[in-house]
Amino acid sequence: MKLEAGSMQALVCDSYGTPDDLRLEEVVIPVPKEHEVLIAVHAASVNSWDWDLLRGRPYLTRLGAFRKPRYRILGADVAGRVIAVGVAVERFRPGDEVFGDLSGCGWGGFAEYVCATEAALTLKPEGVSFEQAAAIPQAAVLALQGLRDKGKLAGGQQVLINGAGGGVGTFGIQYAQLLGAEVTGVDRGEKLEALLAIGADHALDYQLEDFTLSGKQYDLILDVVGVRSVMDIKRALKPGGSYVMVGGTTPRILQALLASPITSRLERKKVSLLLHKPNHNDQLVWKSYVEAGQVKPVLDRVFPLSDAAQALAYFGEGRAIGKVVVSMGR
Ligand SMILES: NC(=O)c1ccc[n+]([C@@H]2O[C@H](COP(=O)([O-])OP(=O)(O)OC[C@H]3O[C@@H](n4cnc5c(N)ncnc54)[C@H](OP(=O)(O)O)[C@@H]3O)[C@@H](O)[C@H]2O)c1
Repeated sequence: MKLEAGSMQALVCDSYGTPDDLRLEEVVIPVPKEHEVLIAVHAASVNSWDWDLLRGRPYLTRLGAFRKPRYRILGADVAGRVIAVGVAVERFRPGDEVFGDLSGCGWGGFAEYVCATEAALTLKPEGVSFEQAAAIPQAAVLALQGLRDKGKLAGGQQVLINGAGGGVGTFGIQYAQLLGAEVTGVDRGEKLEALLAIGADHALDYQLEDFTLSGKQYDLILDVVGVRSVMDIKRALKPGGSYVMVGGTTPRILQALLASPITSRLERKKVSLLLHKPNHNDQLVWKSYVEAGQVKPVLDRVFPLSDAAQALAYFGEGRAIGKVVVSMGR
């Protein structure tokens, strides 16, 4: 696709609402500032954060942006080709293929072009498509920071991932399996076969089984959905075990925050909340796993940019296994 008359197609969002409120519009191609890179986006993936920002729910997402989303163009995870670089950019030059998470530098990935700070970007893994690369950044880094940094997962340990069939979980299962941990994935029944296929040792249907009542205990529980009370979760933790909440409802997040110091001291069961930090080094870790063929991004569906609003609607239905991706068709 050529840079024509300084304009591009973008999915714009001028009010909180639903995917029906999104419009494909012709907007001006951004110009990179000194530490920024202009990327011709080849693919961008949908994250739950896009979904939350579009709807303005939970209400915490409206902090400092009460009437309309802070970012007119959503889309944090992108893969594409560098078109131009700011004067202070050191690591990239035009032509480089990159991927990254733009949630710390203005979003804007659901568009033909986007500017991103150099620090948010990493050279794209070789041997995979732009669609696969765009699936990686936020979900994979959340999984890594949850399992490795907060959860201190080690080989031989037993880990349960609650909400294992989405973006974070499908990367988390593959990482835990690579470490040599015994992995249990919990999700909707129709996703369980896919979880076993990517390396889960056990898979539980949350609509049929309650893992907190089974009597089985885990060294680590990584919770992507956060709808259970901390009291319930603790039953399923071994003494010395850890509960890491990646996301959840506002009451559950507050409960985990309050429970954390008490639980850790009295019961030797650690409760912690993950605070997402987009990170070039963590993206490099995934790049090497993917290039070595040790991890495969799981893609559910790829939509063209003209159907990007449907991509968000499909994500919102919650039936996807792995990631939903928007392709710019380059
Ligand atoms: N900590 C941070 O700084 C930070 C930053 C960004 C995002 N996040 C969080 O990261 C999470 C994103 O994860 P993701 O991308 O993997 O989301 P996702 O793709 O939507 O996956 C979530 C999975 O959980 C399943 N699920 C729904 N209800 C469940 C239940 N009660 N029990 C078990 N599984 C259930 C869903 O399946 P069904 O819907 O089909 O049931 C889906 O497969 C969100 O919670 C988000 O808030 C955190």
